[in-house]
Amino acid sequence: MGVPDLDRLLADGVRGQRVFVRADLNVPLHNGAVADDARLRASIPTLRRLLEGGARVVIASHLGRPNGRRDADLSLRPVASRLAELMGVGISFSDDCVGEEARSAVCNLGEGQLLLLENLRFHGGEERNDPDFAVALAGLADVYVNDAFGTAHRAHASTAGIVPRVSRAACGDLLKAELEHLRVIREPIRPLLAIIGGAKVSDKLSILEGLAPHADVLAIGGAMAYTFIAANGGAIGNSLVEPDRFADTLRVETAAREAGRRLLLPSDHRVADRMDPSARTQVVRDIPEGAMGLDIGPETAGRYALEARKAKTIFWNGPMGVFEMEPFAQGTWTVASAVADSPATSVVGGGDSLAAINQLGVGSRIDHLSTGGGASLEYIQGRPLPGVTALER
Ligand code: 3PG
Ligand code: MG
Repeated sequence: MGVPDLDRLLADGVRGQRVFVRADLNVPLHNGAVADDARLRASIPTLRRLLEGGARVVIASHLGRPNGRRDADLSLRPVASRLAELMGVGISFSDDCVGEEARSAVCNLGEGQLLLLENLRFHGGEERNDPDFAVALAGLADVYVNDAFGTAHRAHASTAGIVPRVSRAACGDLLKAELEHLRVIREPIRPLLAIIGGAKVSDKLSILEGLAPHADVLAIGGAMAYTFIAANGGAIGNSLVEPDRFADTLRVETAAREAGRRLLLPSDHRVADRMDPSARTQVVRDIPEGAMGLDIGPETAGRYALEARKAKTIFWNGPMGVFEMEPFAQGTWTVASAVADSPATSVVGGGDSLAAINQLGVGSRIDHLSTGGGASLEYIQGRPLPGVTALER
């Protein structure tokens, strides 16, 4: 990667300088508190190194999709509290990420101190990559560091527009580590097993198209499997389905076949009459009328687990069923333990798969837990990431 890193930046010195760190602190909130702090923890090493170097650290992030309007529910304030708690240091907060309030907060920031700016996406200029907004952000910085791997696939003002407007720019440790680990999937030791789940084909179509010819084995789970099965004339009862995607799924299957790869679909299913934790469940091969598939069945989970044992490299994104509800969690858990137990180099991405890994407590047996969902999917398909490209000037 032809991008200056933190080592370079620190070697040149940052003491007393205003270092603007674009982080991805886009975490789930529940009742006004951070519900999952994995992205915050992952952002800490870069922040610490900058503090130790005597920088005046200005952190910026988005949270959710407020569409250019202020939304009290999407304030980064609770994130500032949680991050301060995790780091064991004080973090000041500015109610706006640009303008007088931000300027004076930055002005008051001393060496080795941290400031978090309010949600960048409260301004429409962020997502539009508006030049004036980029100039306003750059005005808060002597040095720019991008550590927001999860947002690297977005060409926004804080990830792209700002870069040519600052005199020094570098990538943070998280961004660098993510690119290194995900390169293992881009250029894998074979066989590469990709396990892709989740509710909808439409959300993951581009990754399916990218992986079908690339992965030696592509194993499909989650509700998206029913669209594949229905497209082939299989019985899916009342399961979630996207008939307007039948042609896409058939194209993905053809792409895998023509490349000599194997695409695996569930051969059995855990079904219920409704998506409810108290519903009575049953394992079937063909889903009858009135029933809906809510998890892969035990035979399928066993087949996918066997593939995980044989693989040399594994990429997993997306749950195998409605794992938030215990009766439909078994498939996801079986896959999670198989990935953890496998001798293969394993990379897991996407919020739901990470949650499943954390629930099982097997995170330490996965080689890399990616903080990026969309960004990791784009990257392993060989697409340029605008946040990275911007640094490569
Ligand atoms: C994410 O969680 O996907 C990243 O933070 C980017 O957010 P976005 O999908 O709303 O652009
Ligand atoms: Mg996203």
